[in-house]
Amino acid sequence: MSDWIKVCAMDNINEEDVIRFDHSGKTYAIYRSPEDTFHATDGLCTHEKIHLADGLVMDDIIECPKHNGRFNYKTGAAKGAPVCVNLQTYPVKVEDGAVFLQVA
Ligand code: FES
Repeated sequence: MSDWIKVCAMDNINEEDVIRFDHSGKTYAIYRSPEDTFHATDGLCTHEKIHLADGLVMDDIIECPKHNGRFNYKTGAAKGAPVCVNLQTYPVKVEDGAVFLQVA
């Protein structure tokens, strides 16, 4: 069974930005793309478990703040050394001005 969890008001995430969201002992990263769509991935880099919410959003890429590894945050695909393990992605929807994350 999966649940939709309210993350925040959509205005709490700026375009081209990412925030950290913790739920049930797990950390997620929630993104607002430059073209104003919302996305979610695991919140920790697969290289050394650094918070991706401290990183930089550039188009459809999140750049890790520690070693500048890159992922496509829409697909979870690892895109730049030193990261080689993909991120898991999660469904996101916007309803009544709020962002919701689907967790397993
Ligand atoms: S911890 Fe993210 S690239 Fe190394």
